[in-house]
Amino acid sequence: MTRRPLIAGNWKMNLDHLQSIALVQKLAWTLKDASYDPKGVEVAVFPPFTDLRSVQTLIDADRFTLAFGGQDLSPKDAGAYTGDISGAFLKALGCTYVIVGHSERRQGHGETDEIVNAKVLAAVRHGLVPVICVGETEEELELHGTSAVPVAQTKAALAGVPAGTPVVVAYEPVWAIGTGKVATPETAQQVGVAIRAAVAAVLSDDDAAETRILYGGSVKSGNIAGFMRKPDVDGALVGGASLDPTEFAGIARFPDHVGA
Ligand code: PGA
Repeated sequence: MTRRPLIAGNWKMNLDHLQSIALVQKLAWTLKDASYDPKGVEVAVFPPFTDLRSVQTLIDADRFTLAFGGQDLSPKDAGAYTGDISGAFLKALGCTYVIVGHSERRQGHGETDEIVNAKVLAAVRHGLVPVICVGETEEELELHGTSAVPVAQTKAALAGVPAGTPVVVAYEPVWAIGTGKVATPETAQQVGVAIRAAVAAVLSDDDAAETRILYGGSVKSGNIAGFMRKPDVDGALVGGASLDPTEFAGIARFPDHVGA
């Protein structure tokens, strides 16, 4: 089973729609100059909602081989939910993916495992691939050890998802996000194995073999290779470094530095 690595850029609340066009253009050109092979690595960007239409139009017009997705979605499909965005709208804009359960939403917006699960089910209903974020805080790490929280969050997020549904899981230790502190590749591998077993338990062995498990938390072009050498790390969810197209393209070109 070969899983196509996914390098995903989570822009968070950065870049307006004009800035998004400039970044995507520069990213696509930088990747092209570097002979980036989209068959070997998939690159996706996750702009703010207000940028999605611009990003879609540019990618379609210039035939860039970049995927894109939303950073969140509503658990509901339509109706009186002021400020929320339906998965149906993201699908209509050509999104392939949607991030669900990022720790900034779990912590800053009170998203429980139940809400995350409802959002995963909404994504699946609308034909979007959820990029499910899981990860422990520093206190949880001390209390429960390395894999317990990500495994429990993965199982809760996938409840009721039918076997055969494509999903991506991103292991993002909360203490590593935006801090410059990175998990070791060995820890990412250990948690990757545990998450894969959780996917097998809830979905199926085939799904587990096909599911891409990403590492996220202070990923840069200088540390990506160590993660990508691990068999159960299938890519990265990149925050800060995805706002710099040269740096992000350097991460996407990890096969150049992974070596034998
Ligand atoms: P970071 O963020 O790369 O800035 O640490 C990762 C994320 O939150 O997805």
